[in-house]
Amino acid sequence: MSFKAVLVEKSEDGKTSASVQTLEDDRLPADGDVTVAVEYSTLNYKDGLCVNGLGGLVRTFPHVPGIDFAGTVEASDDARFKPGDKVVLTGWRVGEAWWGGYAQKARVKADWLVPLPTGLSTKQTMMVGTAGFTAMLAVMALEAHGLKPDQGEVLVTGAAGGVGSVATAILANLGYTVAAVTGRAEQAGYLEGLGAGRIVPRDEVSTPSGKVLERETWAGCVVAVGGAMLATILPQMKYAGSVAAVGLAGGNKLETTVIPFLLRAVNLLGIDSVMQPYENRIAAWNRIASDLPIGKLEVMATDAGLADLPGLGRDILKGQVRGRVVVDVNA
Ligand SMILES: NC(=O)c1ccc[n+]([C@@H]2O[C@H](COP(=O)([O-])OP(=O)(O)OC[C@H]3O[C@@H](n4cnc5c(N)ncnc54)[C@H](OP(=O)(O)O)[C@@H]3O)[C@@H](O)[C@H]2O)c1
Repeated sequence: MSFKAVLVEKSEDGKTSASVQTLEDDRLPADGDVTVAVEYSTLNYKDGLCVNGLGGLVRTFPHVPGIDFAGTVEASDDARFKPGDKVVLTGWRVGEAWWGGYAQKARVKADWLVPLPTGLSTKQTMMVGTAGFTAMLAVMALEAHGLKPDQGEVLVTGAAGGVGSVATAILANLGYTVAAVTGRAEQAGYLEGLGAGRIVPRDEVSTPSGKVLERETWAGCVVAVGGAMLATILPQMKYAGSVAAVGLAGGNKLETTVIPFLLRAVNLLGIDSVMQPYENRIAAWNRIASDLPIGKLEVMATDAGLADLPGLGRDILKGQVRGRVVVDVNA
């Protein structure tokens, strides 16, 4: 038996290239215990790195990227799953250190799988994908630290990207007033359609003022961009406000002072989607099913196939992909 997959290969001169190839089933990871007929995967920032062999995430070539997928169990050596079960996988370094979801078949550890969320199809689950799952984790962390809709505006950075789009839609649906930061003025209408109350041009929050504290502006924040933008926002947080630090699309350095933490009791919350325990995953997917309107999910999603991924992998690293891309691996 064979299956199609995006294979990233490395040549002797160290250059990597990605292409769709037909592989025999015996090339799947031998020490996995569940084989899944993948139906959909998606495109995340990390996939852009893995498809292009960047960021040191992939150490062994040839490699099948795709950090998440949803599909149907085909064979299982683990009692928790049986053929026909619908499952989803995000994280656990699948697609980085283990062959991932840019394939019609994947063989993974049973511990990494969760049942498909009730009320969502495999396609809808991958429209959400790792980016949307992480956005939900960020919103849950902000809520756990006391954020409520009546406390004021919640800032979402990298708003037209994957994490940002889903965070904007969920927060707006929960009754929060969302201020959406984007560097793409042409996406204002799209973001307002997802529920953003106002658009903040990226330039306005890209450069720290140099003051240790500024006017208290944001009740909460989801930061997909990191770097100088995070340093700009911390002094602008309201008293006891929380910032969920999700990503580094704008850089991984953070130069700031401790003053917002000491004088304003600001919380900086680290968000990791990769190693979340099973119970947290189920809780987050249940919240996604209830708090992310399907209509908005459909607005933010575009369709793609395996052959589109080498190009899309380059585009997402340039910040040129809007919302979520859902990949039909059988298209
Ligand atoms: N912690 C975790 O577990 C976890 C999980 C998923 C993702 N992430 C991280 O979260 C980040 C976003 O992921 P994603 O999949 O949503 O990526 P994405 O779709 O590319 O979104 C990132 C957005 O950030 C903005 N941006 C890009 N480059 C920028 C720059 N140089 N300066 C300022 N803004 C910039 C763009 O939004 P605008 O055009 O609207 O400005 C872009 O659409 C990535 O760093 C990713 O690695 C982390």
